[in-house]
Amino acid sequence: MSEFTTIDGVNYGPLAFLIGVWQGDEGVDQTPEPDAEERNPYYETITFEAGGDVTNAEQQTLAVVRYHQVVSRKSNDEVFHDQVGYWLWDSADDTLVETFTIPRAVAVVAGGSLGQPDSPDQTLVFEVAAQSGSAEFGIVQAPFMYAKAKTTAFSHTVTVSGDQMRYSQTTVLDIYEKKSYDHTDLNTLKRQ
Ligand code: HEM
Repeated sequence: MSEFTTIDGVNYGPLAFLIGVWQGDEGVDQTPEPDAEERNPYYETITFEAGGDVTNAEQQTLAVVRYHQVVSRKSNDEVFHDQVGYWLWDSADDTLVETFTIPRAVAVVAGGSLGQPDSPDQTLVFEVAAQSGSAEFGIVQAPFMYAKAKTTAFSHTVTVSGDQMRYSQTTVLDIYEKKSYDHTDLNTLKRQ
């Protein structure tokens, strides 16, 4: 990654392209309901900030970008999803990690790498995934969620082209009588 990804002496690599305040109002959420499912149009703001770097076990250095995502339902302007987390980049092997938690007592550590852009105008594709039960890139949740609304897998693709970001994510749930229900979210955002 080139020099212009360095901020205050920290090389953020691909994560430098995330930094900023992003807003989008084309979101679509697909969510399970006991007897059916629901599609919720939404708008959101995601704020990504440079967080410096950390060294682990005196061997690994990770660049850190922290974020806060606030999502509102278009139909009533109420915030219906809030998420805080980090994106991490290891320059030694070019790997990515996204860690986050949501206020339903669920936390995720997802791992991956940069994917291949579908077209030349796309700058970067971030791809991470996690599986419940994995000792490494996994999902942990409080007992109620584990019993009643278990997240079994999570995958997330974020594409950044200049000041445009698109993402799609799938959170796989065991909830109600549904096994492996795909709770999906996607949106397109612009850097402010
Ligand atoms: C833009 C992102 C997201 C939005 C807008 C969103 C929205 C929603 C909505 C509207 C529900 C239904 C709530 C209800 O029926 O009362 C729901 C359920 C749920 N979501 Fe999300 N969600 C998002 C991302 C995530 C992520 C990333 C995870 C976990 C990795 C997650 C985990 C869950 C779980 C476990 C439930 C089941 C709880 C329930 O319905 O009672 N969601 N979500």
